[in-house]
Amino acid sequence: MKLVAVLASGRGSNFQAIIDATRSGDITAGRCSRLITDNPGAYAIVRAKEAEIPVSLVDYRTFPSRDRYEDQLIRVMRETDADLFVLAGYMRILGKGIVHEFSGRIMNIHPALLPSFPGLHAQRQALECGVKVAGCTVHLVDEGMDTGPIVLQECVQVIEGDTEESLSERILQREHRCLPRAVQLFCEGRIRVEDGRVRIL
Ligand code: GRF
Repeated sequence: MKLVAVLASGRGSNFQAIIDATRSGDITAGRCSRLITDNPGAYAIVRAKEAEIPVSLVDYRTFPSRDRYEDQLIRVMRETDADLFVLAGYMRILGKGIVHEFSGRIMNIHPALLPSFPGLHAQRQALECGVKVAGCTVHLVDEGMDTGPIVLQECVQVIEGDTEESLSERILQREHRCLPRAVQLFCEGRIRVEDGRVRIL
């Protein structure tokens, strides 16, 4: 059984999707062993308590420098003994040291069909661009912003009259399906990176 640590900064609905998938048997090869958050007000903490998952708070604002914050985050990540770290709405960019140390073991969910629309407000960017198809991407994390080998993607149609909210909600439903699947694949040892691309075994 692999150990999965989730990093989340806010609402935590993707974190919840992982918890639910473990309960329903959609994730069988791993279990969520810790939530790491940078935000003491994150609703994800409430979800963790309900699921009896321990929480580590690493609040950026309480550190004198970015380096000290990264030192503490890397320490907390090591202590989890997790096989996989899932960024599920984690709003801080991980430093190079962390990405390097846990290379190939950090996964991120992004609400766009990467490499289109990286960064913040991906759904708004997609709407403003007039795309007809939008979606979500689960990828392994490298040193870039929302780059790294793509594990899974799912798409949704953009509908006439869609707002940022309505499109985000439709994409979110897919995120909740896509992320647990990717976690299960990782925990089953079925994700292999070859030439910078993911091959699902
Ligand atoms: C999701 O849209 C995710 O793709 C993005 O941040 C949002 C987090 O939502 N990275 P939640 O906290 O999981 O509900």
